[in-house]
Amino acid sequence: MFESRTFAFQASVFLLFVVGPSCLVVGRSVNREDVDTESLELVHVLFRHGDRTPDRRALYKNDPYYNVTYFPIGNGQLTNAGKRKEYNIGKELRSRYYEFLRDDKFTLDTVDARCTDYNRTKMSLQLVLASLFPPRGNYVWENRLDWQPVPFNYWPVKEDHVLADPLENCPRYNKLFWNYLNSSEGRKLYENYTEVIQYLEHHTGSPMTSKDFADLYFTLTTERENGYDHPEWAKPIYHHIQDLCIKDYNVSTATPELKKFVVGFLVKKIIDDTYTKIKGVDKGTKIYLYSAHEFNVAIFLRYLDVFYSHVPPYGSYVIVEVHNYGGIRGLKFFYQDYTEGKPKRLSIPGCGGQFCKLTTFVRLFEHMFPETENDCFNLDGLF
Ligand SMILES: *[C@@H]1O[C@H](CO)[C@@H](O)[C@H](O)[C@H]1NC(C)=O
Ligand SMILES: *[C@@H]1O[C@H](CO)[C@@H](O)[C@H](O)[C@H]1NC(C)=O
Ligand SMILES: *[C@@H]1O[C@H](CO)[C@@H](O)[C@H](O)[C@H]1NC(C)=O
Ligand SMILES: *[C@@H]1O[C@H](CO)[C@@H](O)[C@H](O)[C@H]1NC(C)=O
Ligand SMILES: *[C@@H]1O[C@H](CO)[C@@H](O)[C@H](O)[C@H]1NC(C)=O
Repeated sequence: MFESRTFAFQASVFLLFVVGPSCLVVGRSVNREDVDTESLELVHVLFRHGDRTPDRRALYKNDPYYNVTYFPIGNGQLTNAGKRKEYNIGKELRSRYYEFLRDDKFTLDTVDARCTDYNRTKMSLQLVLASLFPPRGNYVWENRLDWQPVPFNYWPVKEDHVLADPLENCPRYNKLFWNYLNSSEGRKLYENYTEVIQYLEHHTGSPMTSKDFADLYFTLTTERENGYDHPEWAKPIYHHIQDLCIKDYNVSTATPELKKFVVGFLVKKIIDDTYTKIKGVDKGTKIYLYSAHEFNVAIFLRYLDVFYSHVPPYGSYVIVEVHNYGGIRGLKFFYQDYTEGKPKRLSIPGCGGQFCKLTTFVRLFEHMFPETENDCFNLDGLF
């Protein structure tokens, strides 16, 4: 069922149709002035996939649209609106980092791209790569096609501690999560929702806990986006379902130890990759791309203590820039949630404003860096 490490290097047929030279006019754009290219050394970007159809796995028992197949797109797959959204991420990044990435310096090591083992995040990543790295110079290989293949990787859920859901692959996290939900503190978070939850269980025909609310929220949301309106029972309480979905982000990251296992592997990788770059022992990577889900974006913001109550929209992304000001290394964080034209600057609490010194960042967060993946399999102290 699980392949070992998979190397996807695909010339996807769909790209032949969506990418044309006319799509790739790079304007001297709006947000270039935000970027201090002189001091920029490395960029990390985490993004959500684009608009999609409902996932079969997440449908509820009494779903009136249970048998809808969304042919020919299929369940849980990117729609054309979703493809455009992801393609636009690459355009925004290309415009933002045009001087930094330098077409004439492009090699296959310029970008390190990975995604979760889902069709929609794989396709999203291909779309971002397509608009971020159109072929130039020696890379032009077909005059009528402004696209080139760029490699990316993904790992099966069981092996992916960086982006996959730790409830699926990290037994320590799994235990901590359910213990927390069943603790007096955890139960208190839902104290005002008892009636809502009973109502939902009655109408869906399914028992409901933390993760089920998110599944229900996305099922209802994506059904409506694809032309299947909410059933009557859901209309008056849709906003409560959204609150419960957001609550799951909070519960999933409620303690430092939960944060350590649900986001810490990613943050630690970002910091490790940053040090590799600073030491000059890297392969020349300029940008790391992580194609994942709204959950990854939300909990990453929670980890950094900059989350506000919302569901990260399709195509939302967080940027971590590494800068070098005269030997002082630090990080700048930005979040594109499309509420303003350009990505917003984030200030990490305790980090001294919008430029967070790397050493300060490590001091603030290293207690939430896991040592190794083995930590996931150590159940010491849990019952
Ligand atoms: C879905 O299809 C199954 C099998 O044909 C049928 O029993 C069920 O009633 C259908 N459900 C809905 C909601 O249409
Ligand atoms: C990915 O897409 C293929 C082709 O449509 C489909 O057979 C497969 O079930 C999809 N996988 C997932 C996890 O959606
Ligand atoms: C939840 O906690 C109670 C006591 O606080 C305990 O009796 C029960 O077994 C726990 N349930 C689970 C599923 O851990
Ligand atoms: C539940 O409602 C009460 C009364 O409005 C409020 O004081 C309390 O903070 C609420 N609990 C939560 C977890 O929101
Ligand atoms: C989740 O936590 C944030 C703070 O990170 C808080 O503002 C928000 O009210 C919480 N949301 C819910 C639905 O409990």
